[in-house]
Amino acid sequence: MSRAAVVCGLGAWVPPRVVPNDVLAEQLDTSDEWIRTRTGIERRHVIEPGDATSDLAVEAGRRALASAAARGGAEAEGIDLVVLATSTPDHPCPATAPVVAERLGLGGVAAFDVGAVCTGFVYALAVAASMLTAGTAQRALVIGADTFSTILDPGDRTTRAIFGDGAGAVVLRTGDADEPGALLGFDLGSDGAGSDMITVRAGGSRQRSTGEPAPEGDQYFSMAGRAVFTEAVLNMSKSAQNLIDRIGWTGDASVDRVVAHQANVRILRAVGDQLGLADEQIVVNLDKVGNTVAGSIPLALADAVAAGDVRPGHRVLLTGFGGGLTWGSAALRWPDLALVPDPTPTLRKEQS
Ligand code: COA
Repeated sequence: MSRAAVVCGLGAWVPPRVVPNDVLAEQLDTSDEWIRTRTGIERRHVIEPGDATSDLAVEAGRRALASAAARGGAEAEGIDLVVLATSTPDHPCPATAPVVAERLGLGGVAAFDVGAVCTGFVYALAVAASMLTAGTAQRALVIGADTFSTILDPGDRTTRAIFGDGAGAVVLRTGDADEPGALLGFDLGSDGAGSDMITVRAGGSRQRSTGEPAPEGDQYFSMAGRAVFTEAVLNMSKSAQNLIDRIGWTGDASVDRVVAHQANVRILRAVGDQLGLADEQIVVNLDKVGNTVAGSIPLALADAVAAGDVRPGHRVLLTGFGGGLTWGSAALRWPDLALVPDPTPTLRKEQS
């Protein structure tokens, strides 16, 4: 039996404040009808002033650790690695993962951020799984968390309609490749020629080295919506199919559920069509949370598991696409996990 990283805990969190489409329609030239029909989104969650990505990451991480401990084992103990996927860190420097680790009582372990925008969670999962199978770490907490509400242009009806804040996390342990929960393979890719399609122009070294203030508006997130739509369908479908072919999930042993990055319900349907899957095999939760960037895939997974839509034994394919451009997929047979939606709070908030 070969050594593998095995999913043994799952948790997710969204901030309590809900912003339904109607509230956006009061502020911007848009409507509930346009947003629902063009994206499938009905509402999103948004953080309060002063809150940050680490606050969401800690809540999701806490739930994943409680989930790992719920089966009676010592799964939550012995975590020696925290990988946080985010493009909205608490500060440009340092990384946010060490603060998250410390607030979860895991201070001292290896902790770093991974930046691959909406593909961030799949990349982080691949990095952590590789470290576990290489023997560099034994147990990892992998979190995807973003607060895009903090970088959206308040006057941009397109991006404000799409994005929401949220986080999700899994616990990985080392185990065998034939166990339920074992990560069976990854497919990762990028195309830097498309880096302008999804970007925040200001605030990085390219702009700051000029010594000039950034042009107004460049501090906000911007996206070429239609081009991104096409690239998302193409690359998620291709990446998912590559992985399916490589691990031999065909015929009687084909995919049961696809948990794809939740960008737009029309993108999800198109990916399902490309893969020859029925609508009910494609997990959808963007109606409730919008596009939560690195939080999107683990949040959708947690919702689907809670609803009994993803069940133990299911062949589950995760696939994402995002800025960079980047894309990636991962595959596993779903394990029998307990979700702990509301573990006892034991954590403190960052003071700074
Ligand atoms: N309300 C009303 N009208 C809107 C709107 C909104 N919230 N957002 C955009 N529009 C308008 C556009 O301005 C455009 O108007 P125009 O024709 O007068 O210029 C019109 O709707 C059609 O725009 P278009 O971009 O062609 O619409 P679309 O059907 O492609 O939907 C997106 C736009 C952004 C929803 C869609 O392209 C999309 O989902 N793209 C991918 C986004 C994404 O996934 N990003 C994250 C990547 S990981």
